[in-house]
Amino acid sequence: MSANPDLKNMSGYMDPISELSHQSYGGSDEGMHIGAVPRITIHAFCQTDGTMRTAEAAMEDRRMAKAHLKLDMGGIPSAIETFEQAPTPNLIVVETSGNREDLVSSLDHLAEYCDAGTKVIVIGDVNDVTLYRDLISRGVSEYLVTPVSVFQLIGAIGELYADPDAEPLGRTIAFFGVKGGCGASTVAHNGAWSLARSFQAEVVVADMDLAFGTAGLDYNQDPLQGVFEAISAPERLDETYLDRILSKCNEHLSLLAAPATLERTYDQGEKSFEQLIETMRASVPQVVLDVPHAWNAWVKQTLLSVDEIVMVAEPDLANLRNAKNTVDMLKQLRPNDRPPHLVMNKVNVPKRPEIKPDEFASALGLTVQAAIPFEPQLFGTAANNGQMIGEVDNKHAIARMFEDLAQSVSGKAQPTRSARPGLGGLFSKFKRKTG
Ligand SMILES: Nc1ncnc2c1ncn2[C@@H]1O[C@H](COP(=O)(O)OP(=O)(O)O)[C@@H](O)[C@H]1O
Ligand SMILES: [Mg+2]
Repeated sequence: MSANPDLKNMSGYMDPISELSHQSYGGSDEGMHIGAVPRITIHAFCQTDGTMRTAEAAMEDRRMAKAHLKLDMGGIPSAIETFEQAPTPNLIVVETSGNREDLVSSLDHLAEYCDAGTKVIVIGDVNDVTLYRDLISRGVSEYLVTPVSVFQLIGAIGELYADPDAEPLGRTIAFFGVKGGCGASTVAHNGAWSLARSFQAEVVVADMDLAFGTAGLDYNQDPLQGVFEAISAPERLDETYLDRILSKCNEHLSLLAAPATLERTYDQGEKSFEQLIETMRASVPQVVLDVPHAWNAWVKQTLLSVDEIVMVAEPDLANLRNAKNTVDMLKQLRPNDRPPHLVMNKVNVPKRPEIKPDEFASALGLTVQAAIPFEPQLFGTAANNGQMIGEVDNKHAIARMFEDLAQSVSGKAQPTRSARPGLGGLFSKFKRKTG
């Protein structure tokens, strides 16, 4: 945005709320100081044409290039209608007019449908510092008074994610197979795809199986650069470099593919993935790590560092032994974390004697997150076509299983649901770091 008509109003345009909200933007030539907004999903519900135009202009700004901004009219009622039926993005922006009581009660209603971690910015026409403080104390991240300028909007969004004390943006989810070929990568790729599609979350998949990884094949991508470049130059690795080497699979899903060539050997050091994982975590809401079936220093280090672990196993004795060892090791490495999610895969192979998934799970002290049947036709077709199960047959029960899995590892609510009761008090779901 070069010619922004509101720019000239950027300093001292209104008080007292503007003063308050202005403090965080740092100077009069704001645009210069506003950093890029990270890879988040934003849904804005405007009420006036002016705010809509501002949001449209913001969408075109380079600082918003990575973010996904969806625009609608209709204010809070329209937001409520939308999120009754759909998961919430990282950030909701709602424009409102009218009195405080109505605003508070409609925001309360909206809060019922907000997933944990979703932030809310309110744009209103009431310039009242009491209202501002009231909303902030209730968990609204920012209150902006109309007319809102492009840089005010981008600045407010950027601020929410630039706070060094803020929780890191992303969650990291490692998929680990307890035995080679049990389908850990297949489950990882399908789970990530479902997360991106059904939950509209921005997802990056990193294929850590440098020599043999199949993420490129599975997503039908053949990028020149990927995960190896990312770990080879940790000193160069920042969000900008990461963006350059990501290959986009679809609207919300990007990939760091493995080289999957054997010209060199891959004797990575213990910390070799650390910088990559941190960089992704700082800039991507959902990071899926396809960890190869191996036990070396960096695999252990990765499992130690991630937020969630999905352990994939087939229902036989060797898998059970390895799963038991894995669970014991994780308990020791991560004593204060939840146990891994257990996915039983290739269940019901014809004529194969198998351990029942429930028995398998209870031997580990876990419950079964998903028991995916052995379906060679379906999985074979998907693999050969470079497609996901949901692309081959969206109605298939297995596609649902991947959706459920995506939901439980992401901490998000179901994509279709009715109002969820018991979410606690007013705005309890709007998270904000104070202090
Ligand atoms: N539920 C399943 N039914 C049939 N074939 C499957 C299933 N899950 C995975 N596969 C197939 O098993 C093979 C190995 O899967 P992969 O994900 O590469 O395993 P891993 O990453 O654990 O080594 C692939 O050919 C994949 O298509
Ligand atoms: Mg694999």
